[in-house]
Amino acid sequence: MYVACQQGAVAGLKTALCEPNGPFRLAYSARGLLTLKTQLSVPHWSRALPEHPLIRSRGVVLGKVEGTESARMLAQILESTKSLDWQVCHVWQRDMADPGWNGFEPGGTPLAWLVAEQFRSLVQDARPVIANRPSFDSEAHRVDTQALDPKLDRILEIIIDEPNRWWIATKRAQQNYDFWPGGIPEFPIPELVLSRAYMKIAEAFAWGNLQIRPGEKIVEIGSSPGGACQWLLDQGASVTGIDPAEMDPRIVKHPNFTHWQSRSLQLKRKLFRPFRILVCDANVAPKYTLDTVEGIVAYPTTNLRALVLTIKLPEWQTSNSIPEFLERVRSWGYADVAARQLGHNRREVCVIAKNRLAVAASD
Ligand SMILES: C[S@@+](CC[C@H](N)C(=O)[O-])C[C@H]1O[C@@H](n2cnc3c(N)ncnc32)[C@H](O)[C@@H]1O
Repeated sequence: MYVACQQGAVAGLKTALCEPNGPFRLAYSARGLLTLKTQLSVPHWSRALPEHPLIRSRGVVLGKVEGTESARMLAQILESTKSLDWQVCHVWQRDMADPGWNGFEPGGTPLAWLVAEQFRSLVQDARPVIANRPSFDSEAHRVDTQALDPKLDRILEIIIDEPNRWWIATKRAQQNYDFWPGGIPEFPIPELVLSRAYMKIAEAFAWGNLQIRPGEKIVEIGSSPGGACQWLLDQGASVTGIDPAEMDPRIVKHPNFTHWQSRSLQLKRKLFRPFRILVCDANVAPKYTLDTVEGIVAYPTTNLRALVLTIKLPEWQTSNSIPEFLERVRSWGYADVAARQLGHNRREVCVIAKNRLAVAASD
């Protein structure tokens, strides 16, 4: 088995998944990539894959390929997997740095892109070989990254650990992120983004399978300088940003944007009545975020169909409290509540709550 995650999450995942707490023993560890052994034999297309909010991608390891010539390594992969009825191949590279460090963002890399192209020509049938676009990539370089197809759930993975060491894995995709190479979705990124929160919110809505209705009223607590508002406005939402700090002037002048320059707790709760989605990205302790949002959600005139909360983790150990955070959000009446450390999250997790039972009729 392998799991991929952010480097900071490695220690917590080891503890959660390995003996005595879990069924695994550590076999190999690199930045953001662990391979795990178990005494049970795990079928290639097993549905029993490890689950944890800090896991970005997971699968069953077949083995590794080492070498200095990609053509040879790929021929070896093709040969050793020819009896496997895989439907799609994902090629991706483990993170070389933390998200946001020196402009690094998880996702496509030039190497993974080239390996995918090479494997595609070797496979010689119509099975898709997918890699995310590397960030430098231009429109002209676009290849066939395709929409997620739930019928194509038997995925072969080529995971580039080092340029000369690749892991081969299989996975039976179950969650939507299993259909994304390395667990990172692709979405268009404009040349100018006002902050990294643009990527975080785009990924959050993709993972949460949340659609924005035209003109829908969305409020964001902790909105400055405005990357997330930029994305929400790009999707056609009508956005109110709450933050004592200034917003970027390009957001302020957008006709569908309103700035309430204040701390969230200083605002009357009845003001939240028009909003259907609440986003919170304030850099405060988890308890403060949950207290603030609970105060709004519990107010009788509030009618939020979804919450998208960034829960900052003051230290990595705070991730042990994620089940309690989720329980608290569920207690507000939401049926679907989940947490995931998004690829673009730093030391934080995203919690999405949907389908509020009490207001389902008017939704
Ligand atoms: C990570 S930044 C938000 C980035 C932003 N979402 C974006 O898209 O660019 C965190 C923000 O939370 C704001 N903040 C902290 N406490 C707050 C509170 N109680 N109410 C509103 N905003 C708060 C800070 O002023 C800061 O601008």
